[in-house]
Amino acid sequence: MEPWKYSSWVFRFFFIILLVFFLSSSSSLSWSSLHPLHINSTAMHRNHTTISDFRLLNRRTLTECPGTSPFLQVNVNSNSSLSDEEYLMVTVSGVLFPSHRDWVAMISPSHSNVENCPFNAVLYAQTGDLSTLPLLCHYPVKAMYMSNDPGYLSCKKKQCKKYSKGKCIVPTCSGTLTFHVINIRTDIEFVYFGGGFETPCVFSRSGPISFANPNQPLYGHISSVDSTGKSMRLTWISGNMEPQQVQYGNGKTLTSEVTTFSQDNMCSTALPSPAKDFGWHDPGYIHSAVMIGLESSSTFSYRYGRDSAGWSERIQFRTPPAGGSDELKFLAFGDMGKAPHDASVEHYIQPGSLSVIEAITDEVDSNKVDSIFHIGDISYATGFLVEWDFFLQQISHVASRVSYMTAIGNHERDYIESGSVYITPDSGGECGVPYETYFPMPTPAKDKPWYSIEQASVHFTVISTEHDWSQNSEQYEWMKKDMASIDRSKTPWLIFMGHRPMYSSSDGVFNVDENFVEEVEPLLLENKVDLVLFGHVHNYERSCSVYQNECKALPRKDKNGIDTYDHNNYSAPVHVVIGMAGFTLDKFSNYVDSWSLSRISQFGYLRGHATKKELNLEFVNSDTKKVDDSFRIIKTQGSS
Ligand SMILES: [Fe+2]
Repeated sequence: MEPWKYSSWVFRFFFIILLVFFLSSSSSLSWSSLHPLHINSTAMHRNHTTISDFRLLNRRTLTECPGTSPFLQVNVNSNSSLSDEEYLMVTVSGVLFPSHRDWVAMISPSHSNVENCPFNAVLYAQTGDLSTLPLLCHYPVKAMYMSNDPGYLSCKKKQCKKYSKGKCIVPTCSGTLTFHVINIRTDIEFVYFGGGFETPCVFSRSGPISFANPNQPLYGHISSVDSTGKSMRLTWISGNMEPQQVQYGNGKTLTSEVTTFSQDNMCSTALPSPAKDFGWHDPGYIHSAVMIGLESSSTFSYRYGRDSAGWSERIQFRTPPAGGSDELKFLAFGDMGKAPHDASVEHYIQPGSLSVIEAITDEVDSNKVDSIFHIGDISYATGFLVEWDFFLQQISHVASRVSYMTAIGNHERDYIESGSVYITPDSGGECGVPYETYFPMPTPAKDKPWYSIEQASVHFTVISTEHDWSQNSEQYEWMKKDMASIDRSKTPWLIFMGHRPMYSSSDGVFNVDENFVEEVEPLLLENKVDLVLFGHVHNYERSCSVYQNECKALPRKDKNGIDTYDHNNYSAPVHVVIGMAGFTLDKFSNYVDSWSLSRISQFGYLRGHATKKELNLEFVNSDTKKVDDSFRIIKTQGSS
């Protein structure tokens, strides 16, 4: 069946209206203790909708700030250039009349035009902003209201600029904000605005501040290239385009392949997309090398870089078990994104991501994880490219230590007239290019982001729900062939993964595409798929053994009271939605379908433990670190 294809302007206009409506849902709390500042940031993000008012900032012509103080200064507590991660204190002083509408933006590069682009207001409409208000020309990396300093509005920190007869006649006020800054290679600048986010005007600027080493190799992450566990790909970022090295094991060295992407690679329509225009940020150079000659299920150390650019620290990582071996411990989730580690606002914030990454860090640090699967909606940069750096930094502690495998989601791939199945502006014009560059997976070719991999007793078939999956399509033929070719005596478990679900009882027009279900679900049954994992809907939901909306079998309670699906008498796959790793949670409707056995709207992730006879799954609530749902699938070895 031909996927949806609409292209009229009328459709686009109404689609954008609908998109804004559906995305304007309420937000929930999550928490991390990584840094004291997170306390403030989480309290602030709790009240965020998924699109903050800060998101409406772009394309505003700036007015002159009335009554600018001649004493204004924007100072940063750093006399020298910046290290790779800092908490910078930005002080605005000489303020005559502190207002709740005063705010500070961090912009990068420092020469970004934030001042005047009066003809471009229409461009931002495609991202959901239908405002006719004036907009900034280049999107700030992050922004914070001065009122985040509790003493600012009450002028707690007073200075006197002029005395008369021993009395102060010109008092001024100041305030200090703390910004979490990471090495994004291009220099940064802090701009002090008045007028709130809606009618901003520039008061003063700090002047540019550079990173000490824009070439520093950073944000390395590991992925599998095959099912042997003996070859692992390392991918990292640097401002330096010269090939670099990865040194690993006992004295092995490999040279990186270097790539990048440019604004020309971003997709667009007659209206420039955020990625192509005001959301662009230079990604630097993406280095990648495949470490070969390793042993599966073993620990190795590595570092990456070159003398002229700098070296990473030495990192320990663990290879996953080889396909066909017995035991695998894995984590899986979708829709993580990122949240600032300070009280800033950004164009898109996923409030649960900090709590989830903290809980996952604990698991990886205590050697309980062989590999991680992140199944779509990865960073939510959605055309605001600097946010990829923040996401990569957020996951780097875990993704540099165990295999971090990904699937593509709508927020990486979809765009109008770009060949995506769903004609939405959800990738902000990225069209999968940054995703595929940052997360090279063992796929057949560019823009064909489907693959399979075997780890221990599990065969993972990973598809793209955003690319044509209709019968006779290239992807459909691939998944058919892939699943038919599995040796179930070697890998008794078949886990099928993608982004958009086939079953969800959350309200939402676009949650489940009946065409997708109709086309692909029969393949799951034919190939005796054991477990199906999808994201996209932001909660956790587990089904019975389900096919065509009907329970073909129900699990039985084992002696510990845990739901156990017996696949010796296989009847249908178990579907689980796991899109609860960061994005504002979706609620469930009051109506419960008969196939839905467990529904949890909490932040967390799925923890899996496979042996050849048993597949144990747990939903871990990342705020409490407790298991809120668990189930088992059992099978005698060799039966499929
Ligand atoms: Fe999604």
